[in-house]
Amino acid sequence: MSQFRIGSVWLKNNLILAPLAGYTDIAFRRLCMELGAGLSVTEMISVKGLCYKNKQTFEMLRTCEAEIPSCVQLFGSDAADFAKALELGVLDNFDIIDVNMGCPVNKVIKNGEGSALLHKQQAAAAIVSELTKSGKPVTVKIRKGFKSDEFVAADFALRMQDAGAAMVTVHGRTTSQLYSGEADYQAVGMVRDALTIPVTLSGDIVDTQSFNERKPYADGFMIGRGALINPSIFAHLQGGELSKKYPLIKRHLRYLGEYFDEHYAVVTIRKFFAYYLKGERGVKEFKNRIYSANSLAQVSDLVDEHLANI
Ligand SMILES: Cc1cc2nc3c(=O)[nH]c(=O)nc-3n(C[C@H](O)[C@H](O)[C@H](O)COP(=O)(O)O)c2cc1C
Repeated sequence: MSQFRIGSVWLKNNLILAPLAGYTDIAFRRLCMELGAGLSVTEMISVKGLCYKNKQTFEMLRTCEAEIPSCVQLFGSDAADFAKALELGVLDNFDIIDVNMGCPVNKVIKNGEGSALLHKQQAAAAIVSELTKSGKPVTVKIRKGFKSDEFVAADFALRMQDAGAAMVTVHGRTTSQLYSGEADYQAVGMVRDALTIPVTLSGDIVDTQSFNERKPYADGFMIGRGALINPSIFAHLQGGELSKKYPLIKRHLRYLGEYFDEHYAVVTIRKFFAYYLKGERGVKEFKNRIYSANSLAQVSDLVDEHLANI
């Protein structure tokens, strides 16, 4: 696996943990970085929340030692808010700043944020250009287009490159597709052909076959749901073994306990089980019982009792 450069920042490889709201907190990012990811990205963080000095938003900015380098993903609509967030100094910890220009959630789009920016090139370019004043590489994550079959990504990405972006990630679905169908990796290849900066592909990499199929179309590769199913996918795609899940789940529980209060940790790990248990047999009893566990110790005991063989 070759090294990969985003502006002035070198990564040890070109496999990146995708930003996943509700999942890529400090505990899961640490796990994936230790399991071979070249970079991990935080959940999307509201610049307005930062400007209002929201305590919960600030907490999402914690990083750990395994995150070398580190990347924060911000979302917002107005370059002035991004400038204010920079001034606060709370982003100083991060090596790379990514901007979400692909979120399909209505509440976000309504505010002119996320993928709404795909139809507002000028506002999007102003955000990128403002953030480059930090001296850090600025990257953007976009979708193929907004409406059903639309393909605006190449033109849009070119504009972001002109505004100073150091990398563009393309999720090959349109906003109206949400997560349905297959992500269009050839569209990602067309964006790559149009740009001189690196282009990263996001969408549907879950194993070596899906990875190899997409490899010719991009420079970097983001992995989202595939990492939720088995975070050792990063090591695996670099020639290592796909790890058993039991030890990974135990390690994940330990990290959640290190960084978060019991309530957050228990509620969060429950969500992860929907992915960790995908395709696993003999876990019905575990699924029935996990919702009655309300401490990490109880979750851990249930995992020992039911999942030691997965
Ligand atoms: C639960 C969930 C949360 C997501 N949150 C974010 C986010 O915060 N920021 C972002 O840019 N994309 C987000 N995405 C999109 C992913 O980063 C990625 O582009 C998409 O899931 C396709 O890749 P995959 O098939 O590897 O999961 C999210 C996707 C899912 C399923």
